[in-house]
Amino acid sequence: MNYPRLSFISICTFAVFMLGFQLKPALFEIPKTWDIAAIKQFLLPLPDGTTQVTPISESYYYSLPEMKVFKSYPIRLAGMEANRKYIDSLMTLDPVDLFESEPRTEQDLVRLGEEVFSSPLILFDYSEEFFKALNESVKSAEIPVSKNTFPYYTYVIDEKSKVKVGIFSCAMCHTRVMPDGSTIKGAQGNFPMDRMDGIDAETYAKSLPKEKLKEFDDGMRTGRKRLHGAPWVNHFSQTELDTISAAKIIAYLKAIPPGVMIRHGANYNQPASIPDLIGIKGRKYLDRTGLMMHRNIGDMMRYAAFNQTLDMLNSYNDFIPAGIDFKALTEPGKGEFVGTDKRYSEIQLFALGKYLYALKPPKNPNPSSPDIVKKGKLVFEREGCATCHTPPLYTNNKLTPVDGFNPPASHHDLYDILGMSVGTDPKLSLYTRRSTGYYKVPSLLGVWYRGPFGHSGHVATLEDWLDKRRLDDDYVPTGFKPAFSKTMAVKGHEFGLEITKEEKAALIAFLKSL
Ligand code: HEC
Ligand code: HEC
Repeated sequence: MNYPRLSFISICTFAVFMLGFQLKPALFEIPKTWDIAAIKQFLLPLPDGTTQVTPISESYYYSLPEMKVFKSYPIRLAGMEANRKYIDSLMTLDPVDLFESEPRTEQDLVRLGEEVFSSPLILFDYSEEFFKALNESVKSAEIPVSKNTFPYYTYVIDEKSKVKVGIFSCAMCHTRVMPDGSTIKGAQGNFPMDRMDGIDAETYAKSLPKEKLKEFDDGMRTGRKRLHGAPWVNHFSQTELDTISAAKIIAYLKAIPPGVMIRHGANYNQPASIPDLIGIKGRKYLDRTGLMMHRNIGDMMRYAAFNQTLDMLNSYNDFIPAGIDFKALTEPGKGEFVGTDKRYSEIQLFALGKYLYALKPPKNPNPSSPDIVKKGKLVFEREGCATCHTPPLYTNNKLTPVDGFNPPASHHDLYDILGMSVGTDPKLSLYTRRSTGYYKVPSLLGVWYRGPFGHSGHVATLEDWLDKRRLDDDYVPTGFKPAFSKTMAVKGHEFGLEITKEEKAALIAFLKSL
């Protein structure tokens, strides 16, 4: 992929023109994304205290080519004949470079931000093989789809007479298909990417002749070490990465349900549940572990740049996940790992941030009666939930240390820390690249349209979250159940577990009204 760079001079000239004639200047005060001083405070340190994280330099970042955002079109899951006609009609369309003319108003920004949200990192040529394989994956991986549309990928026209398939947009992971087939952009996504990857890898492995299997094993192992490696951690989940077989990786991938993901930097048995981005503006810490701070839109821009996927070029002491032999950076723009060869432009990131801030929750189609909601609110207050899940955001925006981590004194000046652990499984925040030693207090807004719950999505529903049987060793997690475990206690967060059945129903009705 070759993205021509926007001329710096033309942007400057344009900005001066806009400021002079069109806009209130404040609208276009765009923060600098790769501001090293801001990044230093933005990133929380690893909990082990000895491994330093060094992101790529400012000069490396700004010498990456900028992405272009082209108009995209939905992928319809029609029959083959209807699809041929649809593809033929797309073939006649001209590419539309959406940032060719600059946004002039706040509304323009939000509209373009939505396009950035749906804009893929990877493009490949459309083929009928792709279309057949996609239809098969929808069945084999039980992918929720929306009224015959596949909402996680798009078709993109970036060249005349060519239809490309675009994957790896923000929308791929942050779009939720509801049981009635409607989609909610920005909600906890439910594209089961890991499960699909596992099934696809398994099918592929079966098609290989025996002599190719070792190469396949080695390739899978190296690729996954890039995604999940944290070699300074002395825990089985890390040490096994050096010798793990493809078959075992596949089993791990297949165990991940919709709504949960082994995000890069996380690990097989420590995945992250996908957050709801609606309401993000009010949250002070990003990611379950509060890995990145959110002080202003500049931090949101940094979050997007890091996670899509320039954090793969961070140096953890001397380990660079997407580096050559895990050690060295390629020349800027030559990175082979998805997304490491380019960057979003500043205006694209700014527009993306504006779009995320403008996301609105959907209307609840089945509200409970006001009486029961009122009763539930009383239970919520009596049980002390509001201490942590404080209205109106339903979070106090604090970090809670995990079991096994003692915050150093300096942290109390830097971060908002609640001085108690809620006792949930600490592994995501101790043994991965996403670790900080904390879990944040999540907001409870919008729980009616999301799930599974908890940092790794171990429980499917609020009923299960408030079911004290989850504390028993013979519990079968209803959300993410690690591969190779039949049962597992989902421990910690023992709040609201001792209430009566009626109180529980009322509490849940209240939670679902938020
Ligand atoms: C491959 C799937 C995937 C893609 C692509 C992706 N995300 Fe995410 N995103 C996740 C997961 C999983 C998490 C949770 C990570 C964690 O808690 O450690 C997350 C977390 C976030 C958060 C933190 C929210 C919070 O409340 O903590 C934000 C903001 C976010 N993503 C925005 C974006 C944007 C913007 C893009 C596109 C530039 C994007 N994501 C692309 C999967 C994805
Ligand atoms: C001491 C602070 C604290 C109190 C009190 C508390 N919570 Fe939480 N809550 C948390 C933290 C921290 C998490 C995240 C834990 C994790 O994922 O490991 C959480 C997670 C949750 C979740 C899962 C949300 C998600 O997005 O995954 C729900 C639901 C929830 N709490 C409801 C409640 C209710 C209901 C009460 C009262 C009965 C309550 N909490 C009391 C701190 C608290």
